[in-house]
Amino acid sequence: TRTPVNVTVTGAAGQIGYALLFRIASGHLLGPDVPVRLRLLEIPQAVKAAEGTAMELDDCAFPLLSGIDITDDAKTAFDGVNVALLVGARPRTKGMERGDLLEANGGIFKPQGEAINAGAADDVRVLVVGNPANTNALIAQRHAPDVPAERFTAMTRLDHNRALSQLAKKLGVSVTDIRKLTIWGNHSATQYPDLFHAEVNGRIAAEAVNDQAWLENDFIPTVAKRGAAIIEARGASSAASAANAAIDHVFTWVNGTAEGDWTSAAVVSDGSYGVPEGLISSFPVTSKGGRYEIVQGLEIDDFSRARIDASVAELVEERDAVKALGLI
Ligand code: NAI
Repeated sequence: TRTPVNVTVTGAAGQIGYALLFRIASGHLLGPDVPVRLRLLEIPQAVKAAEGTAMELDDCAFPLLSGIDITDDAKTAFDGVNVALLVGARPRTKGMERGDLLEANGGIFKPQGEAINAGAADDVRVLVVGNPANTNALIAQRHAPDVPAERFTAMTRLDHNRALSQLAKKLGVSVTDIRKLTIWGNHSATQYPDLFHAEVNGRIAAEAVNDQAWLENDFIPTVAKRGAAIIEARGASSAASAANAAIDHVFTWVNGTAEGDWTSAAVVSDGSYGVPEGLISSFPVTSKGGRYEIVQGLEIDDFSRARIDASVAELVEERDAVKALGLI
């Protein structure tokens, strides 16, 4: 029997947590033969609710779930962690300025980064879901200097999956007919879903669509503003789809991308495509041997350049703001 993988989920009592934990415990995060031990981190007021979720996890009698610990202490939560899913974050509330939001989240992601640095397993992989995800990941990463920077990532896989689905619908094809789609930049309304490198049954997607007005006025804004549209329709933000994307992100990271395909993830920039080194920005990435790597050498035309630059400029602003606040 294999030793269980330690998976820590923060914000475990929240709505993404509720959609995520059962899929982790049933083997979808790492694979159907990998036992997991769950650690749930919550704030003190939500520990009881997390205990309730743990009771339900028990009641599923999942064969792969070898244990559940619940804590409100980050050091305990990340001790020996192999996979850290940082979902809990401070949401923007009415009247809150961006600076306040970044500061409140700095208060969460700085100590969590320090706790990962202090106690995580050597192979730790970190996915930040809690918004503003890219910059929260940057804060955590900067406070974990002993962990290779590439182990810190932020989630744009939900945006990627949204784009796959919109494109498949437009062309009347299956999502499995689409390859090499990319989300560039920030997980925010400035993100750029790129159809100029994507392929549909071997054809460039933008050419298969052959409708620039749809691409600019429909596809890009629909993908980029989907989160707000879900809130409007559901009365609550995306939860099951966000949990599903987190599962996809980690599964691909550990198990690899298919030959001839790539996916999207926000990873630490090495300066590729003019994205300043060190920023955590979304790129086309392949995964092999448990490492995400940025796809190199793509030609970027003026249309794509302007959109990538705009989203990266927003990331630079966020980085400068957290720097000014002394958070990195
Ligand atoms: P939620 O409000 O239902 O749950 C958040 C949970 O985090 C709460 O239970 C809260 O007690 C907990 N929490 C707060 N501070 C914490 C701390 N310091 N340590 C541990 N737990 C803490 O929110 P929901 O819907 O589950 O969303 C979570 C985050 O994911 C939000 O920031 C949301 O904006 C983000 N999100 C990101 C997406 C992406 O594509 N990157 C997609 C959808 C949501």
